[in-house]
Amino acid sequence: MTDTVIRESDPSDHGAVVRVMDAWWGVEVSDLLPKLFFIHFRDTTFVAEKNGQLVGFLCGLLSQTFADEAYIHFVGVHPEERRRGLGRSLYEHFFAACRRHGRTTVRCITTPGNKTSIAFHRRLGFQLGPGNGEVDGIPVTLDYNGQGGSRVLFSKRLAGAR
Ligand SMILES: CC(C)(COP(=O)(O)OP(=O)(O)OC[C@H]1O[C@@H](n2cnc3c(N)ncnc32)[C@H](O)[C@@H]1OP(=O)(O)O)[C@@H](O)C(=O)NCCC(=O)NCCS
Repeated sequence: MTDTVIRESDPSDHGAVVRVMDAWWGVEVSDLLPKLFFIHFRDTTFVAEKNGQLVGFLCGLLSQTFADEAYIHFVGVHPEERRRGLGRSLYEHFFAACRRHGRTTVRCITTPGNKTSIAFHRRLGFQLGPGNGEVDGIPVTLDYNGQGGSRVLFSKRLAGAR
């Protein structure tokens, strides 16, 4: 981790991120990450590099509707770099940006089948739910995107937030 640098993103980072995403997730997800995060949400979108190579990223935004909230759209870590604290570091960079902007609550969602994501968010202190259904004992919101799929909702109140 000491040789890994986390920095704010740039529009030119988008291509490198979408080219690795499907391999890192093991399913096609790159269509779900538009370039706008790397243009309009640069100071809440981060990339992690090790020896100049992309090893992680986080795409987030400050809510326009809820002045005290922020949202993480995607986080990913290179499969060979997982379980070494990089995902947590990316979240800590985002939390610091949230605090600077007076945001006290961070939200994100995941699919009920993504057990790694659920374990990761729980470990980072996120609460699950509310939901209107349950999958494998996990509260989910049914038909979240209007296409039949359920999503797990996460929220975390930031310690030390104003
Ligand atoms: C989720 C993901 C970003 C986690 O990144 P990571 O760098 O491995 O996470 P960290 O090493 O910082 O782990 C943070 C905590 O979560 C826990 N954790 C991480 N992966 C876990 C797993 N598979 N099972 C159980 N706990 C896990 C760690 O033990 C750690 O807890 P600790 O600090 O108390 O020991 C990474 O697994 C990933 O890129 N997955 C594929 C993409 C994805 O599903 N993204 C999330 C949905 S957008």
